[in-house]
Amino acid sequence: PVLLCFLLGSLWETSAAQIRYSVPEEMKKGSFVGNIAKDLGLEVRMLSQLGARIVSRGKKQYFALNVRNGSLVIGERIDREELCTQSTQCLLNFNVLVEDTLKIYSVEVEIIDINDNSPHFLLEELELKISETTALGTQHLLENAYDPDVGVNSLQGYELSSSDHFSLKVHSRAKGVKYPELILERALDREDEPIHHLMLTAWDGGEPVRSGTARIRVTVLDANDNAPVFTQPIYTVNVPENVPQGTVLLIVNATDADEGINSQVRYFLVKIPGKNSEIFQLNSVTGELLTLQNLDYEDAEFHEMEVEAQDGLGLRSRAKIHVTVVDVNDNAPEVTITSVTSSIPENAPPGTIITLFHVHDRDSGKNGQVLCSIPDDLPFKLEKKVDNYHSLVTDRALDREQVSEYNITVTAVDFGGPPLSTDTHIFLHVADINDNPPTFSQSAYSAYIQENNPRGASIYSLTAHDPDSQENALVTYSLVDSNLPLEAPPLSSYVSINSETGVLYALCSFDYEQSQELQLRVTARDSGDPPLSSNVSLTLFILDQNDNAPEILYPAFPTDGSSGVELAPRSAEPGYLVTKVVAVDADSGQNAWLSYHLLKATEPRLFSVGLHSGEIRTVRAFLDKDALKQNLLVAVTDNGEPPLSATISVTVAVADSIPEILSDLSSHPAPESQDDSLLTFYLVIAVAVVSCLFFTFIVLLLALRLRKWWMLQVVQSAADHVGGVSSSQFLGIDGVRAFLQTYSHEVSLTMDSRKSQLFFPQPNYADTLISQQSCEQKESPFPAQSLLQGKD
Ligand SMILES: *[C@@H]1O[C@H](CO)[C@@H](O)[C@H](O)[C@H]1NC(C)=O
Ligand SMILES: *[C@@H]1O[C@H](CO)[C@@H](O)[C@H](O)[C@H]1NC(C)=O
Ligand SMILES: *[C@@H]1O[C@H](CO)[C@@H](O)[C@H](O)[C@H]1NC(C)=O
Ligand SMILES: *[C@@H]1O[C@H](CO)[C@@H](O)[C@H](O)[C@H]1NC(C)=O
Repeated sequence: PVLLCFLLGSLWETSAAQIRYSVPEEMKKGSFVGNIAKDLGLEVRMLSQLGARIVSRGKKQYFALNVRNGSLVIGERIDREELCTQSTQCLLNFNVLVEDTLKIYSVEVEIIDINDNSPHFLLEELELKISETTALGTQHLLENAYDPDVGVNSLQGYELSSSDHFSLKVHSRAKGVKYPELILERALDREDEPIHHLMLTAWDGGEPVRSGTARIRVTVLDANDNAPVFTQPIYTVNVPENVPQGTVLLIVNATDADEGINSQVRYFLVKIPGKNSEIFQLNSVTGELLTLQNLDYEDAEFHEMEVEAQDGLGLRSRAKIHVTVVDVNDNAPEVTITSVTSSIPENAPPGTIITLFHVHDRDSGKNGQVLCSIPDDLPFKLEKKVDNYHSLVTDRALDREQVSEYNITVTAVDFGGPPLSTDTHIFLHVADINDNPPTFSQSAYSAYIQENNPRGASIYSLTAHDPDSQENALVTYSLVDSNLPLEAPPLSSYVSINSETGVLYALCSFDYEQSQELQLRVTARDSGDPPLSSNVSLTLFILDQNDNAPEILYPAFPTDGSSGVELAPRSAEPGYLVTKVVAVDADSGQNAWLSYHLLKATEPRLFSVGLHSGEIRTVRAFLDKDALKQNLLVAVTDNGEPPLSATISVTVAVADSIPEILSDLSSHPAPESQDDSLLTFYLVIAVAVVSCLFFTFIVLLLALRLRKWWMLQVVQSAADHVGGVSSSQFLGIDGVRAFLQTYSHEVSLTMDSRKSQLFFPQPNYADTLISQQSCEQKESPFPAQSLLQGKD
């Protein structure tokens, strides 16, 4: 308690003697604050001995005691703003303890503010957004600046960098706190100046004055105060008409000075009645004008449109678009056939109009000028009429048989580059006119038929060709009655012709021996109107058949019952010509080539018959034992196929004299024993003998004669070709006939006169024919031709 009382007593004492200093803040360490030894009344040299020291009571010790010379100095840096913040007075208290005397002293140091802090803004940069439509005088509160100093050292005022649009107003609140406000003095225009940079300065009242700054960025917010503006008032473009669909013709461009949505421009075509909206399309975003359809110069060569640009909030403006379509040769000429004839007769005169057509090209200028043409080699030409009408007319005569149809290609070509053309086909049928008669392929025909043909046999087939068509080419055949003698039956009784097929038929069976050829004329006639016809001659040659057996002329069978007897003298030498068998064959050629054979004889070795001459000669001399009467059977055969033959029995009487013969013969039963006939018989025998001699002579003479005639004939036939092969071929036999006729006439003076009417087949040199009846009739209707040239 004593110590406590002492301590309290000493505190009391100390409080009574308080020491006060005043120092500015931020003094250097060791800076002198005050001479504390002197202020306490203590000896400086005693201080360290007495043990004086600063008692800090646990706080931070800002001061130190220099014991050597008793000064109080700054121990630590003192910041007034840290110690006392905004307090006007800042005091630091501490005690000095003298240990030796246990005296304690209170010391008070006042810290004096110095202007060591500048005003500063919390944000160095201020963002302000002000719409450009903001009214004038509008205030915008700005950020305060702070200065930790106090008094005049603290914040005194604000200042704004110079600006046309803004001013600064500083307000003071209670306790002198100041705050700045920005005032809009002039209207803003974002399009003019979108951002304003300002500088706000805060200053204090210290010495020297300190200041802090903050940048202010005023962003002018956009308002839709600008309409879009087109870059051109009129957009013009020239487009060829053949641009494909979807081609971009031009791009309209409108700019909007605003920004953001206010500057987003969309484009529209101003709707006006008409087709333009179907042809063109405007891309509302890009402003591209494209074609929706093909442009057609021929429809419209100029398009005018109005385009509207609209920004996000509906401000709009307009411009014009002019599209000029340039013609391209994109249309081929069009050919319109106004009238057409599909068929024209071949005899139409040149200049006949076939087709009238109209040519049109939808292009203009050279692209629309058209030239029409047809191939050169056609018998047609084009004629130009008014108003692009053309006519196709015939240029030459037509011939249906050469060209029956024409496929005429009319080419219409324009003058564009490249030119376009149209082909039109006109099909023309050439109608037939009966202008061609039927024609035979040969000028004359020859046909052959065997005689004895069956009736109705087809002889030949004739064909005439008519180049016309239809009934003009329908040919019918008929026979022309030729110039037969009046009394002759008509030709139609011999042959007929099938009028449709042209096949000739025989109506009767022909006989070569009656007629060897037949001259026919056949007419071929078409069915046109008027009909045309042509004639052709046909010679029908009748071919020989071996249908006639040889006919023995001599020796003939006596018709009055007597038998012909040949006489031979008993003294006859071998080779003596007893008689000659004479035969003819009505056939000709091989069929009339006769050969003679001895078939049977009483004395086989006594007589021989000449194979071709028919002469009966003795082979040897007669002997006494030979019978007086020798019977011979001679066969005459022709060379036909099959051969035909005839036989004759010849009786040869061998005697030295006629009475002997007669007596010989009288032993035979005579059919007539009248003196009359006997006399005749003798007469005949006498004549026969004479005849034999005469015959020999005649044969010789004839041979010479024939030879001469033959030569003559050869010369004649060389000179003129009259007289066919047949006449010369049968001359030999004809000569024989001639002789025989004479001969027979003489030998049978008193015999049956029938023998003079021998039928000799006559070669038909004249154009004569046999009638139907004559085919069966014995008598020939033909005038007996003097074939027997050998007679003269
Ligand atoms: C004591 O010494 C300090 C330096 O050691 C000096 O700054 C101060 O002035 C002196 N005090 C006096 C009273 O001489
Ligand atoms: C529109 O015109 C403006 C100014 O001339 C230009 O900058 C812009 O690129 C154009 N826009 C188009 C799509 O051409
Ligand atoms: C004509 O000729 C053309 C081409 O050669 C062809 O296309 C057309 O069919 C022909 N016309 C007739 C009717 O034949
Ligand atoms: C054909 O013959 C007949 C009769 O002889 C005659 O009238 C006609 O004119 C002849 N025709 C021709 C084309 O010769």
